[in-house]
Amino acid sequence: MSRKYVIAGNWKMNKTPAEAVELINQLKPLVAGASCDVITAVPFVDIPAVLEAVKGSNIKVGAQNCHWEKSGAFTGEVSAEMLKSLGVEYVIIGHSERRQYFGETDVTVNKRVRAALDAGLTVILCVGEYLEQREQGVTSEICAMQTKIALQGVSAEEMSRIIIAYEPVWAIGTGKTATAQQANEVCALIRSTIASLYNQEIADNTVIQYGGSMNAANAAELLAQSDVDGGLIGGASLKPADFAAIVAAAK
Ligand code: 13P
Repeated sequence: MSRKYVIAGNWKMNKTPAEAVELINQLKPLVAGASCDVITAVPFVDIPAVLEAVKGSNIKVGAQNCHWEKSGAFTGEVSAEMLKSLGVEYVIIGHSERRQYFGETDVTVNKRVRAALDAGLTVILCVGEYLEQREQGVTSEICAMQTKIALQGVSAEEMSRIIIAYEPVWAIGTGKTATAQQANEVCALIRSTIASLYNQEIADNTVIQYGGSMNAANAAELLAQSDVDGGLIGGASLKPADFAAIVAAAK
C-alpha cells in the first residue's frame, strides 16, 4: 500500500487574488512541516497569484472545476489544458455544489474527469449522497454509482491520478459532520467499488478523502479511520490555524 494522507482546502467562491496571497503567506509556515500532501483549490482568478505565492513551499495548487473540451464556444468555462498551462496540478470535479446548482450530472462529471486526465492533471473526484438518500438507505448505491460513472474510460494506470472525496451533501457547510464510523463505512465502500472496477492493489493505493464540516476538533478522529486517507476542507480551509491543525492531524 502506498497511500499517503492528502489534505485539500476547497476555498469555493472566496478570496480575491490579494486576499488569497495573504492567506497563502499565513499558511506557508504553519504547514511547512507537514507529513501529508497539502493542496489549496482556489478560484480560477486567484490561480496565477497563488501559484506565485506557493513557490518554494510544500503547498500544491488546484482548481475547482474544468470543462471537457479543449477550447470552443463555451462562455464562462475554463479548459483543463488552460489550467495545466498555468502550472496547476489538481482539479476538483463533481463537487456537490456543481451538481446541485450548475446542472452537473454523472455523465458531465465523467467527461470532465477524462479531460482533466488527458491534460495531465490529478483529479479530486467528489461523490456523496443527499440526506434524503441516506434516509432511504441508498447511500451505498448512490456513491457506488457516482464513482462508477465518473470513472468510465479511466485506465488502471490513470487511477494513480485520481483522488476520491466522499462528501455527504448533508454534512457540507452545515456543521453536521458524519460520524467517523459513517465516513469510514462509505470510504470503504468506495474502495471496494474501485477494487471491483480495477483490482485490490489499485483500490488499496487510491486516496479516499472525507469532506463535510471537517475541522480542527474532529479531524483526528476522522483521519484515524482505516479507509479515510485525508480531507477535503471547505470553511476551515479559509482559517490558516484551523487548516494547519487538520494538516497536523494527518500523520
Ligand atoms: P465544509 O468543510 O465547509 O463543510 O465544506 C466541505 C466541502 O464542500 C469541501 O469541498
